[in-house]
Amino acid sequence: MAPIKGFLFDLDGVIVDTAKFHFKAWQRLAAELGIHFDEADNEKLKGVSRKESLEKILEWGNTSLDPERFEAMMAKKNDWYLEFVKEMSSDEALPGAKDFLAASLALKLRVGLGSASKNAELILNLLQIHDSFECIIDGTKITRSKPDPQVFSMGAEFLGIEPQSIVVFEDSQAGIEAARAGGFRSVGIGDPKILADAEIVISGLHQFSPSEIINKLNF
Ligand code: BG6
Ligand code: MG
Repeated sequence: MAPIKGFLFDLDGVIVDTAKFHFKAWQRLAAELGIHFDEADNEKLKGVSRKESLEKILEWGNTSLDPERFEAMMAKKNDWYLEFVKEMSSDEALPGAKDFLAASLALKLRVGLGSASKNAELILNLLQIHDSFECIIDGTKITRSKPDPQVFSMGAEFLGIEPQSIVVFEDSQAGIEAARAGGFRSVGIGDPKILADAEIVISGLHQFSPSEIINKLNF
């Protein structure tokens, strides 16, 4: 097995507890459009870009919007999302996330971010962890959304490491699919039933140290 040299982290739901804010904002928007939207639907939007998320919601509601209204709805969702984010303190990092990043860097592992979010830089700055990442590949840099592996492949290219030597940490089905499609190692964060395709699933970054994760993957 190739030695593990780097980690690529998803942001929402892995490093920071913003997945709940995306859910609340989409649910509010869906309600306004008269479309049913529950936690199971939300699971399918995790890791998916803002535009594709709205496309899916409209498809589920068997409806469509003209381009102008579509843009306005995306902006509305993002405004609501940012209102939640504004209330967030630097403590909103998920348990263990900051320590895990620090321990990864102490082990001289290469660390990058691979997120679909266009708000990634803002959130990393709010949490004061921007400098922990050698590369930040986010929604402003990619053209294809997860489950396409582009976001992680760009990270691997930046770090100059082969995908099989990089572990992707993801809370979404689309993200795990992307990691696997790109040839990366994968750690799911969340429910093992939902993330069944990940190599291992943990409840959060507080559960194991970086070395323990590497040992588990090498086992
Ligand atoms: C992903 C989230 O990280 O980013 C999705 O899991 C979200 O829920 C996507 O839709 C895009 O985020 P943003 O912040 O650009 O709307
Ligand atoms: Mg996520």
